[in-house]
Amino acid sequence: MDRLSNKTILVAGAGGIGSELVRRYAAEGANVVLGDANEKAAETALGGLEKGSGRVLVTRLDGSDGASIDKAVELACTEFGGLDGLHANFASFADGLLQVGVLDLPLDIYDEVMRVNARGFLLCTQAALPRILARGGGSIIYTSSGAAHAPSPVRAPYAMSKAAIHALMRVVATRHGPDNVRANVVAPGVILHQSLADATGEEFRQWALSRTPIKSRLGRPEDIAAMSALLMSDEGSYITGQVISVDGGSSMRP
Ligand SMILES: NC(=O)c1ccc[n+]([C@@H]2O[C@H](COP(=O)([O-])OP(=O)(O)OC[C@H]3O[C@@H](n4cnc5c(N)ncnc54)[C@H](O)[C@@H]3O)[C@@H](O)[C@H]2O)c1
Repeated sequence: MDRLSNKTILVAGAGGIGSELVRRYAAEGANVVLGDANEKAAETALGGLEKGSGRVLVTRLDGSDGASIDKAVELACTEFGGLDGLHANFASFADGLLQVGVLDLPLDIYDEVMRVNARGFLLCTQAALPRILARGGGSIIYTSSGAAHAPSPVRAPYAMSKAAIHALMRVVATRHGPDNVRANVVAPGVILHQSLADATGEEFRQWALSRTPIKSRLGRPEDIAAMSALLMSDEGSYITGQVISVDGGSSMRP
């Protein structure tokens, strides 16, 4: 498939899911700039590229540093002539190990998670949108999480930051729909890539399966990339303003 040929996409955030996003976008013909705070992590994504793919450039992009995001956008425009798509994908999981409720929540952890996940996605939008508008429109995708709408006694910052992204998406989709800009959220369930598998065990896998109607397997980065490639492509041209769960049915919302 070459649904993305002639498109340039900025993927902000590598890692388990981001690396597969880049592989898929490039395999479908896009030129991609991949930015991550950990440039080395981003470079490992280059190893997964297929022959005949679009070009991929890697740069340092820190979601809490607007100047580094501006530079990544600039790189896409100077090297590839403009920008058609943004996929904001990075996340801070700074509250992950705490497992505390709101009463015990340290505010510096709250600030860090919101600064990277919510403010960072806003910064990416502010940097990329003018260039997407200059191309006559395009597609913006934000990676969220089922945590944004699931009941949970812990990790308020992560869930709050992801819910904030949904609101950001709606404003962008509403305000810039008339400019041919589409904005959507992809909300993954448990996506078992290598580093998550390494950090967890059988108990975690069984817990994840127990809350998912599809029992044959857990989610894979390819599942997120398949939905995202559709949303980036013209085949997704009538889809905007949506939170799309890719989670084997572990959440079901009207
Ligand atoms: N894997 C899952 O089960 C799952 C489930 C729900 C949602 N998600 C979401 O999917 C996205 C990707 O998650 P993943 O599982 O691939 O995680 P990951 O840890 O493999 O990748 C996250 C990447 O974000 C980068 N990053 C962290 N802080 C950054 C910053 N300030 N600026 C730029 N880059 C930064 C890290 O270096 C890392 O490469 C995240 O938004 C996450 O919330 C993942």
